[in-house]
Amino acid sequence: METIFSTADLRPVVAQWRRRGERIAFVPTMGNLHDGHLSLLQRANELADRTIVSIFVNPIQFGQGEDYAKYPSTLQSDQEKLARCGLDVLFAPNLRDLYPGGTEEDTRVTVPGLSTILCGEFRPGHFSGVATVVTKLFFSVQPDCALFGEKDLQQLKVIRRMVDDLCIPIEIIGRPIIREADGLAMSSRNGYLSAAERSLAPKIHQNLLAARAAILEGKQAFRSIENNAIASLREAGFKPEYFSIRRTADLEEANEADNDLSILVAAWLGKARLIDNVQVNADGD
Ligand code: PAJ
Repeated sequence: METIFSTADLRPVVAQWRRRGERIAFVPTMGNLHDGHLSLLQRANELADRTIVSIFVNPIQFGQGEDYAKYPSTLQSDQEKLARCGLDVLFAPNLRDLYPGGTEEDTRVTVPGLSTILCGEFRPGHFSGVATVVTKLFFSVQPDCALFGEKDLQQLKVIRRMVDDLCIPIEIIGRPIIREADGLAMSSRNGYLSAAERSLAPKIHQNLLAARAAILEGKQAFRSIENNAIASLREAGFKPEYFSIRRTADLEEANEADNDLSILVAAWLGKARLIDNVQVNADGD
């Protein structure tokens, strides 16, 4: 595995693979890697001849007062994990490489609609920051396909829409959420939890499963299922931002006539903002 720190150094490597007709898969990350990230890499290895993982903590997707400055930077241990996973290149660009004109008045990519609901309502500008950096990374790496986790379901939808709207010739592949044994979705931010908070954290997944069971039972209105979950999380010590039953297709609010559903939640626990989701097929398939 080679670590490459600039687009200028990456281009000739990728160009050579392309000349040989090799298929290239790309997994963008912000580092502090866990098994969720590594599952994307594993699948990338199966799908392509060459795999590139990027590590870049993208300042413009963090709002004021969020954790950009203290986001864990663990390049050395990440490199060790990746070296064991048979990838070809770790791309770790620096800020100037991706933001040559700075981050204040630069060009942005914004996906309308999807970017302002759910997490977008509580993190204004976040999805524009994600769409912008992923576009830049796509131009630097020029992969055939890119893999994203369903843990960040709204992000995955934003990227799919962006790729469709901008006619970007890259296949977007979504992959299932990897969880700890007690159901907590793996996340770089779980490290912010104290031991006591960590033992409470699986309640997020438990509430998602309870809501799914209630939907399948079909006796309770969706808004009342959501309100019960919010009350249950509050009582346990969380500060929920939303707990919402949505149509999977467009993430708009669902009603009882919809079948293909996603339940999404964002809640603070201490210093950690946790997100999670589950899918439900309301007609039981
Ligand atoms: P990051 O949070 O590091 O996540 C990188 C990728 O790993 C994302 O596609 C995310 O959905 C996936 N992932 C995280 N936890 C997962 C889990 N438990 N199971 C499965 N997949 C998981 O998402 C970002 O970085 C950034 O926004 C990025 C796309 C790199 C743009 O800066």
